[in-house]
Amino acid sequence: MTNMVTFKVFLLLFVSDLLFTDGAHNILFPIGGLFNSKNLPDSEMVFDNIVKIGTTKVYHGRAIHSRVLDSYSTALELCPLTSDNKGFVALVDARPTHGICDITCLICNRLNISHLILGWEPPATLEHDSYTFSYHPPWELISKSYATLIKTLQWDKFTFLYEDDGSFLRLQEVINSWPYKQEQILYRKLDPNGDNRELFKYIIKVEHMSFHVLDCDVKNIQKYMEEIVKVENSTQYLSFILTALDAYTVDLKSVPDLRANVSTMHLTKLNDESWKDLDVDVEGRSVRLETALAADALHHLDKAIRSMGIATIDDSIRSQLVIEDPPSLCFRDSKADYEAVAWSLGSKLRDALLKTTCEGFTGTISFDTSGKRQNFILWYSKLNTESRFSYVGYWDSKMDVLVPQIDVTERSSARSSKNVIRIVSRNERPYFEIDETNATAKPRGYAVELTEKIFEYIKNKSKTREEFLYEFYRVKGDSYGNPIAGTKKWDGVIGELLEHNAELAICDLTITSDRNAVVDFSTPFMSLGISLLTKESEPLETNMFSFIEPLSLDVWLYLATTYIIVSFVLLICARMSQGDWVNPHPCNQNPENLQNIWSLYNCMWLTMGSIMTQGCDILPRAAGSRWVTGIWWFFALIVTASYTANMSTFLSANRRSNEIKDISELAGKTDIAYGTLYNASTYKFFENSNDTLYKKLWSVMKSAKPSVFTVSNDDGRDRVMRSKGKYAFFMESTSIEYYMQKYCNLKMIGKLDSKDYGIAMPKNSPYKSMIDSAILALQESGQLSELKKKWWEQDNDDKKCEKTEADKDDGGSLQMKNTSGIFLVLCVGGVIGTIVAIIDFLLHAHKICVKEKVTFKEAIASEWRASFNPRALHKPAAPPRSAAPSTATPSPLRERSQSRAVSVLRAASSFINFDEIY
Ligand SMILES: *[C@@H]1O[C@H](CO)[C@@H](O)[C@H](O)[C@H]1NC(C)=O
Ligand SMILES: *[C@@H]1O[C@H](CO)[C@@H](O)[C@H](O)[C@H]1NC(C)=O
Ligand SMILES: *[C@@H]1O[C@H](CO)[C@@H](O)[C@H](O)[C@H]1NC(C)=O
Ligand SMILES: *[C@@H]1O[C@H](CO)[C@@H](O)[C@H](O)[C@H]1NC(C)=O
Ligand SMILES: *[C@@H]1O[C@H](CO)[C@@H](O)[C@H](O)[C@H]1NC(C)=O
Repeated sequence: MTNMVTFKVFLLLFVSDLLFTDGAHNILFPIGGLFNSKNLPDSEMVFDNIVKIGTTKVYHGRAIHSRVLDSYSTALELCPLTSDNKGFVALVDARPTHGICDITCLICNRLNISHLILGWEPPATLEHDSYTFSYHPPWELISKSYATLIKTLQWDKFTFLYEDDGSFLRLQEVINSWPYKQEQILYRKLDPNGDNRELFKYIIKVEHMSFHVLDCDVKNIQKYMEEIVKVENSTQYLSFILTALDAYTVDLKSVPDLRANVSTMHLTKLNDESWKDLDVDVEGRSVRLETALAADALHHLDKAIRSMGIATIDDSIRSQLVIEDPPSLCFRDSKADYEAVAWSLGSKLRDALLKTTCEGFTGTISFDTSGKRQNFILWYSKLNTESRFSYVGYWDSKMDVLVPQIDVTERSSARSSKNVIRIVSRNERPYFEIDETNATAKPRGYAVELTEKIFEYIKNKSKTREEFLYEFYRVKGDSYGNPIAGTKKWDGVIGELLEHNAELAICDLTITSDRNAVVDFSTPFMSLGISLLTKESEPLETNMFSFIEPLSLDVWLYLATTYIIVSFVLLICARMSQGDWVNPHPCNQNPENLQNIWSLYNCMWLTMGSIMTQGCDILPRAAGSRWVTGIWWFFALIVTASYTANMSTFLSANRRSNEIKDISELAGKTDIAYGTLYNASTYKFFENSNDTLYKKLWSVMKSAKPSVFTVSNDDGRDRVMRSKGKYAFFMESTSIEYYMQKYCNLKMIGKLDSKDYGIAMPKNSPYKSMIDSAILALQESGQLSELKKKWWEQDNDDKKCEKTEADKDDGGSLQMKNTSGIFLVLCVGGVIGTIVAIIDFLLHAHKICVKEKVTFKEAIASEWRASFNPRALHKPAAPPRSAAPSTATPSPLRERSQSRAVSVLRAASSFINFDEIY
């Protein structure tokens, strides 16, 4: 028991008389202050100051400084110091209490002497400890304020950093009222004397925790902060709650690299001027809570004693009043002994203390029936940009609400001048493009200009109009980012953000819930959906003979063969049937020969006429040939009707039959493969979708061989272009729009979902709110859509795709290019007919020139005149073919008039005959 041996008690102030009466009417009550080496020298000084200054006070007091730490020795010390009528009516006890009512406390309670404790742990109060008053507000209430603060700051998980197990006692409420899973709190014990850097590295770099409750001794805060900035450069993503009520007195300016949000609560006010009245210098250093509590305890006690109404009384009354001296604080043998010497006014003073409320340095002092502080207010402060704590609001214990009052720019938004914002992106036209082989080349793209505009807007808005410096860099592998299995790390741009290598990620990054769980996203700057990229089906070769197409080549050949065969069959039938052998001269009743008009020439003419639905003026008469002709007509009817029907549908419908019009059609097609970018958000969309259609598409994609997934969007596009409509690619609609501007034969189908591109940043980025408002403003002013237009349309160096209206929709009608063949056939037919007619004419002329013995030229000229005389519809008949050259050489004219007479007769006879037949 070395403590016992070395114990020494200092009496700092001697007051020998008890219930000392001053010259006038006042009774001064003796009080004591018990301090030990663990207390701050300030508290003792304040106690002394207050006691000394107190000319108008109702008490006189002395401080007892105990060098021993154990409570038993202290209690032993007190006995000699308080005997001989030197007892106290109240004892201000500034020692740490350790949460128990120690021996001094017990003695005070037995003797009805008020025991005013200042330590943070109120002793577990029992019924008989009712003389104990705790001036430190109870931690059950204070920790409620931290719980409320955590709720207000919207923390979703945090680390609980503590030095000793007392933290769990103090901050129970924080843990008990945590609305999420307990696993979301990471508990770690700090070593105040050792190196905690590995621990901080683990918390920040491995667990990626950004929110921390730091419950530690005030004097260690700086040390921990220094350790943290050593392991983490990007402290702006960290946020701390310091639970020490004195934490606001710590000078964090000495840790200039700490750019975290730091919040703390405190009972005492910053730079309270009233300390000056107590001769305490507040300049340069802040008054600690314990000191303030000591001052408040004395002030409260003073008021309570006055309220008892016995301090200043008339002499007459006082003579009747017996005011007993308080007993000495010594051990007694039995309970009865204690009761016998208990201070008679003790319970009155206690009641007065309970009833009295007053304003002190720590706010309103008021006790509930068990001697605990109630209805107090905690001030809420944050570290501002200058690394000073600055008042922002308060928490009221009665209401348990945190009332914000002043806006303070947090430390995290402070930027040092050398600070260059690093922005990560990935190569993908038109968003971002950088030529890394060329050191002087600047990145270009939509993202670059968007960033320019955003920071220009922020600069325009800010009062200081300071420039933001930023630099872009390209992520390795150009990947968006996926979790690395087995770790808490990610790769790609998300990984860069998590490692705090970059402060922003600006590229075509889709906002997904997975990503949002690890990083923050700004307001989306672009909205899009998943669409299908396919190739425009090849335009039909412009075939001017497309009128042939309704019937296949086979059918045409069969048709031609049938035509010839039927003509022959008809010829044979007609030749065999007697009905078709007719009398050539109806007038002659007994003709020498019968005539059959069915030459092969005529047969073919009849069959041709009927299949062209035109008919023919000569028709068979016999049953057999008529039967053949009838059947042929029937055949022609079917063939022409089919041709006509096919012709119209074929030319319009056939060309689109193989195209996909809707994504749902894909599911039924087995001849078209479709895929997406491997492991990107579209891939995830299908993987995680619950929709039956998308599930079906996903299962097809997953099992497809060869793999339908590509490593980049450009690969996907190339595959679509190469595969002649046999491959389609799911990707984001904006990228498709971009490709469509460049490659005219691509097109977009459908839109599966709606999603957004946003700017990603590490959680709790100080830029989030600025960027959000910048994007909204740019959107409203139309600058975003302008930017998109610029990069999607104007940036394409290649020719633009002009799609004419007619091209897009010709409504299935026949186009000239499809039908010009018919005109060609007509021309050729006309020309052939004309040539045949000319040959015929020439042959005829030749005959005439032979017969008439005129020159060929004369023959042509005379025939020409005779044939093309516009006023005459008749011309002289040619000499009969059978007639032998006449010896009488009749003049051609006479001969002609003769033959004309003959032909008129013939015509008349055939006319009559015609009538007879029909
Ligand atoms: C902090 O930044 C400095 C200089 O930029 C760098 O050398 C150091 O490695 C960084 N430290 C950590 C823990 O990232
Ligand atoms: C001391 O306090 C107790 C409890 O309040 C009370 O019962 C007792 O009467 C008091 N003793 C004297 C002497 O007033
Ligand atoms: C590098 O980039 C600069 C600026 O864009 C350009 O002028 C220069 O020609 C480029 N050099 C090469 C080798 O591509
Ligand atoms: C910023 O201010 C300048 C000049 O006042 C203006 O020309 C520019 O358009 C503004 N930029 C934005 C993004 O608002
Ligand atoms: C710091 O405070 C700012 C402003 O209240 C907030 O936007 C940011 O997310 C906070 N940072 C952290 C790490 O909590």
